[in-house]
Amino acid sequence: MICKIETSKLRMVEIKEVKDETVGMKSFLFYDELCRVAKPGQFVMVWIPGVDEVPMSLSFIDDHLLSGISVENVGAATEALHSKVVGEVIGIRGPFGSYFSTIKGKVVLVGGGTGIAPLIPLAEALKKSGANVTFILGFKSSKELVFLDRVKALLTDKKDRLLVATEDGSCGEKCLATDLLEVLLGRENFEIVYTCGPELMMRKVFEVADRRSISVQVCLERIVRCGVGLCGSCVMGKFRVCKEGLVLSSEQIREVLEEFGKYKRDFDGRRIIFKSC
Ligand SMILES: Cc1cc2nc3c(=O)[nH]c(=O)nc-3n(C[C@H](O)[C@H](O)[C@H](O)COP(=O)(O)OP(=O)(O)OC[C@H]3O[C@@H](n4cnc5c(N)ncnc54)[C@H](O)[C@@H]3O)c2cc1C
Ligand code: FES
Repeated sequence: MICKIETSKLRMVEIKEVKDETVGMKSFLFYDELCRVAKPGQFVMVWIPGVDEVPMSLSFIDDHLLSGISVENVGAATEALHSKVVGEVIGIRGPFGSYFSTIKGKVVLVGGGTGIAPLIPLAEALKKSGANVTFILGFKSSKELVFLDRVKALLTDKKDRLLVATEDGSCGEKCLATDLLEVLLGRENFEIVYTCGPELMMRKVFEVADRRSISVQVCLERIVRCGVGLCGSCVMGKFRVCKEGLVLSSEQIREVLEEFGKYKRDFDGRRIIFKSC
């Protein structure tokens, strides 16, 4: 069992491996006693000494191996992380937050962009529990395709499937991941849909599945600063996303429908309305 005090304590870990995933994304692997027994959907706070501390989902969770995060370079902290090499150290707090619950049945995973990161450990756990997995991946273009090899290596059963959607049609179907989901749920029954990615996409996933009374688990992203439920910067309605989330169920999502996929708050608490491109 993970002790709460140890979880929130900062540990310095050495980077053991760096993987180039796409032009803008790198994975960093390290050994940490607590992260290796984390649950899919949980996140860590990553301290880059002298720069900042930022939240990152765990994209590698393995009881016997290294743990890891996959980082898109979007600003000062992630740029500094991208410059790190094997042997350098970063600080870790966590793992924090709620997590996906796994079942044995027929399930769909819908991931968009970097949101696919936490869905990979989830798919690994689902395969271990004997589930039949259909994975829908959505990207803007083939340049952003990430973790395809890891997904393919997991989907070994005849009943498992991988469906890819790109907005420009450079790989898979030229459509949105949610278009593929709509067709799939119109044809077949599934027990649960798990999703992580842009919030507009997750709102649509929720609506498509909820119309057919299929449960959904969504993995949210808000401004996360403390990571432990104290500062309030991550609040969505009645939930602190870092504490009651990141993963919320259909029942919980129904309680925040006014906000989910509609708006989020910036660092100063101002509303930012989600707009589709
Ligand atoms: C729970 C959680 C899990 C995440 N997992 C991943 C992941 O697996 N891979 C990944 O590449 N990114 C992930 N992110 C986003 C990542 O935290 C931001 O990209 C990062 O903090 C940007 O910092 P920066 O200094 O490089 O850029 P900045 O210039 O500071 O910010 C760029 C943009 O990143 C977002 N951002 C900045 N700080 C935060 C913060 N404290 N919390 C949330 N968003 C922020 C804002 O939208 C901001 O406009 C996650 C965010 C959250 C909340
Ligand atoms: S990040 Fe501080 S309460 Fe969630």
